[in-house]
Amino acid sequence: MSPSVFAPDRRSTQRATARAGSNIAFIKYWGVSDPVLNLPLSNSISMTLADAYTTTSVEWDTRGGLLNDEVTIDGTRLDPRRAERIARHLERMRVLASVSYRARVVSQNNFPMASGIASSASGFAALTVAGCTALGLDLTPTQLSALARRGSGSASRSLFGGYVEWEKGRDDASSAARQIQPPDHWDLQDIVAIVSAAEKAVSSESGHLLAVSSPFNMSRIDHIDALLTEVRSAIATRDIERLGVVIERDALAMHAVMMTSTPSLLYWQPGTLEVMQAVRQWREQDKLPVYFTIDAGPNVHLICESAYRAMVVDRLRALKSVEQVLVSKPGPGPILLDSHLF
Ligand code: DP6
Repeated sequence: MSPSVFAPDRRSTQRATARAGSNIAFIKYWGVSDPVLNLPLSNSISMTLADAYTTTSVEWDTRGGLLNDEVTIDGTRLDPRRAERIARHLERMRVLASVSYRARVVSQNNFPMASGIASSASGFAALTVAGCTALGLDLTPTQLSALARRGSGSASRSLFGGYVEWEKGRDDASSAARQIQPPDHWDLQDIVAIVSAAEKAVSSESGHLLAVSSPFNMSRIDHIDALLTEVRSAIATRDIERLGVVIERDALAMHAVMMTSTPSLLYWQPGTLEVMQAVRQWREQDKLPVYFTIDAGPNVHLICESAYRAMVVDRLRALKSVEQVLVSKPGPGPILLDSHLF
């Protein structure tokens, strides 16, 4: 008889909980060169958020009683179809640890899902850290970042705090993020103007595959190295004007690619344009140093230094299409909240 059956099983549950912040990209990730490995067409640069995060617990069922992975997000148990992307990520961890048992995942966002804040970035970062820790896998932050990337590209950046660059790399191991400046380097604010909380019709996951069909895609990618250099330098010298001009340009270039791909992706709503126009007017007429960027959705992220936060929030609230305003400062990399190896 196998001793493992009768000996007290001291490791029947392996559980860990991790928290990771979402991030807002200054130079965007849009388009993949390898959709299986999630290798991007270019580097991207982002700021990790302190106030928009996901807390995820992963409990591996070492007894083998669980037949399928169980996933609960914001209190709702996902059906197997909706849990599939997470189950695929858990499978990557199982392969690394050479185990076959299933997991129970409970994940909570502290921000609304369809708010224009990327829950896939914080979610897959927290899932990767909690899942690997609970399995006892000893991975470096770079390896965790590369692994998180397989779940969601932008999650690779949430493995680090502060200002982060994801190197596109050449293969699975080399496509990972690194910190370029810590969170306390510069107190930038991400102020999200929510103009529509409706769920988007086309996910970024499908959108990335369409980028290559736009005649403007390669043009954007050909020019991106100069923008990356400019953003790195603007962050290093805390130059909001230099940073702002470039982040607006790249957000607009990405949306030009989206709009001109086949099928065309048009994420903007009338409120998106109202906020963009207002930001430019505040800058030009009132010398308010605030700039916008937009992800794959209608909501607009305003970037400014903390001294202007209250003024920007007040002005946004006065716009008729703004339903809600969320604010975040730069935050740390993932935090392990507890881990149990029984
Ligand atoms: C527009 O990381 O959400 O927000 O890899 O399919 O999960 P998947 O895509 P995702 O794409 C993010 C796109 C973006 C720009 C960015 O965050 O860089």
